[in-house]
Amino acid sequence: MKEQQKKFYVTTPIYYVTARPHLGSLYSTLLADVAARWHALRGFKTFFLTGTDEHGQKVAQAAENAHKKPQEFVDSFIQDFKDMWSSYEIQYDYFIRTTDESHKKAVQFWLKKLIDSGEIYKSYYSGFYCTPCETYVTEKDEKNVSEPSKASPSEQSPSQEPLCISCARKTSFISEESYFFRLSAYQDRLLKFYEENPDFIVPSERLNEVVKFVQSGLKDLSISRTSLEWGIPFPDDPQHVTYVWADALNNYVTAIGYGNEARQEELALWWPADMQILGKDILRFHAVYWPAFLMASGLALPKKLLVHGWITVNDQKMSKSFGNVVDPQSLLDAYGAEAVRYYLIRHMAITQDSDFSTLDLEKRVNSDLAHDLGNLLNRVVTLSHKQNLFEVKSPATWCVKEIALRDSFWTMMELFIEDMNEGYWYRALSTLWRFIHEVNSYFHAAEPWKISDTARFEEVISATCHSLQGIAFLLSPVMPQKMKTLLSSLGVVMTPGHDVVDELSTNPWTKTFMLTKIPLLFEKYEIAPVVEEKKVEAAEPTITIEEWAKTVLAVGTIQECEEVPRSDKLLKLLVNFGSYGTRQILSGVKKSFSPADLIGRQAIFVLNLAPRKMMGLESNGMLLTVQDAQSDLVLLCPTVPVPDGTRLK
Ligand code: MSP
Repeated sequence: MKEQQKKFYVTTPIYYVTARPHLGSLYSTLLADVAARWHALRGFKTFFLTGTDEHGQKVAQAAENAHKKPQEFVDSFIQDFKDMWSSYEIQYDYFIRTTDESHKKAVQFWLKKLIDSGEIYKSYYSGFYCTPCETYVTEKDEKNVSEPSKASPSEQSPSQEPLCISCARKTSFISEESYFFRLSAYQDRLLKFYEENPDFIVPSERLNEVVKFVQSGLKDLSISRTSLEWGIPFPDDPQHVTYVWADALNNYVTAIGYGNEARQEELALWWPADMQILGKDILRFHAVYWPAFLMASGLALPKKLLVHGWITVNDQKMSKSFGNVVDPQSLLDAYGAEAVRYYLIRHMAITQDSDFSTLDLEKRVNSDLAHDLGNLLNRVVTLSHKQNLFEVKSPATWCVKEIALRDSFWTMMELFIEDMNEGYWYRALSTLWRFIHEVNSYFHAAEPWKISDTARFEEVISATCHSLQGIAFLLSPVMPQKMKTLLSSLGVVMTPGHDVVDELSTNPWTKTFMLTKIPLLFEKYEIAPVVEEKKVEAAEPTITIEEWAKTVLAVGTIQECEEVPRSDKLLKLLVNFGSYGTRQILSGVKKSFSPADLIGRQAIFVLNLAPRKMMGLESNGMLLTVQDAQSDLVLLCPTVPVPDGTRLK
């Protein structure tokens, strides 16, 4: 098969529509955009799918809180998603909504097929459910895993509500008739598949987690709810609505024609997906349930799951419930789409969580984009024009230094291509930047501004232009518009439809460039000088992480508080620490707080200090405070309520 005929189908997770898109959703979508653009550059026929996950309890509850009907509520966000993607130059081919009639019909077709073949059966579900994660706790928490019960709901009784092990929020008990997918029957087939396809999950460490989970035993999966109306009704049994994940995962095939007789060719053309992009929080759904659903439907499995880490802010996952969400719109207004695209792709190491900071973004723009790249282009064009060189021809033969530079470009490309194909884009960019530094050093060392020989001058300019052209082509999936502008300054137009990358890898540098001066590609940001951080005094010894981990710091709610008789410092607190129990704690904070200030508040405590007696009373922990500028004590507390007993990490 010729390279041009190869296809590349890439998907993003579909986003819950409970709010406007945030930086986390932008990140998943941007990764898919880069993947699609990279493959288009390589001459592949590409299809890029994204969309929205609109059913389920989480969305229904958010709609209720907003006093809107679910359909009206979800409709109100769709344009925001589409506008955001378009502002960030995200070129998806199709935007699926799980409320689309075609999707709903196709899911019902799937359900019927699996009911008929016995893969789906009716029973009772009894257990805990986490609405924010739309997950049955039994699936995630080994301790709580139980077989789907055959007893009727009235015979079930909830034990103490466990917290969701993923988001640590309270779960709710449900006990209802439910349809089950025979997941347990796929355990061996899944394990065999993982073994035969070690590259199924990138990064590969994540495959190990999945294998361990499957090896520990799979239970059949509840895939319908009767206590919820907002979902796709089961065929011939409409009081059951489809579990939101069984509905949503199928979007990857319903969007390209699954369940529609007239679209079978399209389905055969695109499926299986070549790359499915997702965050680490939804790995199990994609690496276990989704492949099992596909096996049951007789469809091939996706070729690769690219699993990314989280964007964190001050090392905490960025999420609405933590109140630390970065708004992609304000980033767009402040920095423009391409600087943000570059920063997210370059700085976020796919494999890990990475902290986001605008200061870091500005530094990257200044050093990588404005200095290393923009400045190089500007210098070459300005200098050439100064010497009246507008049309730059390549020499008949290259000198040694230029041959070395070209060799370096070719060598760099090998590494670059490998990482780009695999989804390690941050690594590819770092390899490319090493070459950009090399071109800068070459240009600086050649000192073209001192060269009087016009042929030699033209050779240095030509070698630099060839390098810049290669760099711009390779960077175009990440910064499409800026690279187009850069190329226009060299008089180059990129023609799609063939393997540009392959052509570059063997390009002997014979191009003629027509140089035009353009405004600066990237402006630098003024960065306020950093105030020197106070160094840790030598007298303050460092501790190891193990030593640090010995201190149990946890959040608790102060239930009762009273003054300790005859003490002008002490207050006596009764604090609830969830699974750590309720404790009496004495604290010398009376000067700054009255009991009324503290009752009902959450705060942070040290829990494993040895018990201590003060004024005849035992204290079983220590309240943490800091002094403000007036030497008054300030309580340390989480910015949003968290479950009592949550430990600090
Ligand atoms: N609706 C499900 C996906 C169904 S796919 C069949 C869902 N939606 S989500 O809106 O909650 O999350 C979608 C994606 O955004 C996930 O890949 C998730 O990892 C990603 N992000 C959400 N917050 C994130 C960060 N803070 N950082 C990076 N990405 C994270 O799950």
